[in-house]
Amino acid sequence: MAKVPEKIVKEVEELRRQIEHHNYCYYVLDQPEIPDAEYDRLMRRLQELEAQYPELVTPDSPTQRVGAQPVEAFGTVRHTMPMLSLDNALSEEEFREWWRRTADGLGGERFEVVAEPKLDGLAVELIFEDGRFRLGATRGDGYTGEDVTQNLRTIRSVPLRLRERDGGVPSRLEARGEVYMEVERFREFNRQREEAGEPPFANPRNAAAGSLRQLDPRVTAARPLEILLYGVGVVEGVELRSHADELELLKDLGLRVVPYRICRSPEEVQDFWAQMNERREELPYEADGIVVKVNDRAQQERLGVRSRSPRFAVAYKFPPRQETTVVRDIEVQVGRTGALTPVARLEPVQVGGVTVSNATLHNQDEIERKDVRIGDTVIVQRAGDVIPEVVAVVKSKRTGRERKFKMPDRCPVCGSKVERPEGEVVARCINFACPAQVKARIEHFASRGGMDIEGLGTKLVEQLVEKGLVRSPADLYFLKKEQLVGLERMGEKSAENLLNALEASKDRPLARCIYALGIRHVGEHVAEVLAERFGSLEALMNASYEELEATPEVGPVVARSVRDFFDREDNVKAIERLKEGGVKFPPVERRAAGEGKLA
Ligand code: IVH
Repeated sequence: MAKVPEKIVKEVEELRRQIEHHNYCYYVLDQPEIPDAEYDRLMRRLQELEAQYPELVTPDSPTQRVGAQPVEAFGTVRHTMPMLSLDNALSEEEFREWWRRTADGLGGERFEVVAEPKLDGLAVELIFEDGRFRLGATRGDGYTGEDVTQNLRTIRSVPLRLRERDGGVPSRLEARGEVYMEVERFREFNRQREEAGEPPFANPRNAAAGSLRQLDPRVTAARPLEILLYGVGVVEGVELRSHADELELLKDLGLRVVPYRICRSPEEVQDFWAQMNERREELPYEADGIVVKVNDRAQQERLGVRSRSPRFAVAYKFPPRQETTVVRDIEVQVGRTGALTPVARLEPVQVGGVTVSNATLHNQDEIERKDVRIGDTVIVQRAGDVIPEVVAVVKSKRTGRERKFKMPDRCPVCGSKVERPEGEVVARCINFACPAQVKARIEHFASRGGMDIEGLGTKLVEQLVEKGLVRSPADLYFLKKEQLVGLERMGEKSAENLLNALEASKDRPLARCIYALGIRHVGEHVAEVLAERFGSLEALMNASYEELEATPEVGPVVARSVRDFFDREDNVKAIERLKEGGVKFPPVERRAAGEGKLA
């Protein structure tokens, strides 16, 4: 075989170095330095060269993140240092007790601690040898875990090579952290699953665990997983004095690290705990408490380990977001796509500071699986931003007067037939003009992530649809002031405001317009991906199934759904009418010169 020209070897090296740098800026620092299109160009050039010179392909090339074949079963990995668990402190008092015990254990010596959020995901270990990502494993039972290397490689914030730093790269590094799914991405992901008739995951943690433990890395690659590191196991070739040193080392090497604060007193920790607890709903991830760790590694050593948890650390938990209450009734809601969702009407109850009076029961299968009946006492949970849900029934509270619920076979709103295709869990009202569907489509269209039409809430949409003023989103843009004035709670001023808000919405960026159309399986994120890839509504409408499917993060289900949507004449007409109404669907501006062409 002819030798690869030196010039090409150099170019490949340089491309990889650049791509890795931009990965780091984008996925770790969250501060991209170049437009996506330019990044794509670097990636495509590297792919071209690797296709031409396959002998240059290495497992840590950025093109190889999703290269691996499915496996039959995971291999096992023995952790060099066990991955321990943590003792819990369930109140401030219990935390202060831990502090006192720790102070005693250190013979009254002063100590400081590091406080971090306790992420609710799946613990993993990443092993780097001479700066290269070699092996990744789940925690398993703490001593032996599963080899999920190929799946971890698909997470973009896991570097395939560590960044060079002053002081060199450790010859061996075992980095530990949590794989998780961001709450927003989880919601979107679950919604898509439900629409596809697949059972939703109960919470982001289960979704992350289920996604990482897939035998086919391509499945994992399509799941929105993230990682944050919070410590190290064995490190060779670098001296570390404290836990904060560990975290800073990980950061310097280009890994994503949990936010942390160094505290010198229990009051400072309490303050951090209270702040995190307060901000809990706004955090991108689920956290069920904070972890407090003695900072000095020599002190950690002296405190030692008790059975399976170290004495130097404690998990100081947040108050639970689960409560028990009674199901007064079960009602059925009809969504945008006609999906029928059973909802439990609850005896109102305070859960983590918010009053909860409704909780989703997802679908008939879920009701049966959990055996929820009207009159039951149930455990409800709020997780992140997600709609409250019924976790389980407290069977011991049953009196015998509870009533079973069955999904209706007619739509509760329009009376049309309900269909549940073989193998799907979702039942749907098949009437496209069902007022419930129309209202939900308009609400979706006007929602924050969509056209963001201020003032167009549920109540107003209801009136507009019931009065026959609006039958589809496009009708909104033909509303006249006279038609609005005289609606309930609608004076001259609010009518004008609404018309202004509608006017402003005509300029929304393409991604939002695509999302607003309400194509099944196209959530906010997928809409962005599509807008970025195709650049204009026309290009998207003309894209073939194959082109759609070849788009990163777009699988066969989404591709099919998008194609089907634009193949329907009524949808094409609806888009025409939106344009007539003044919606601009502005093409995406490409900043990089020479871009805009699809590969
Ligand atoms: S440190 C010796 N830090 O909590 C200390 N753990 O019960 C070992 N976790 O399975 C863990 N966030 O997955 C640590 N900032 C954090 C954490 C964290 C979440 C999980 C971890 C482990 C469990 C310990």
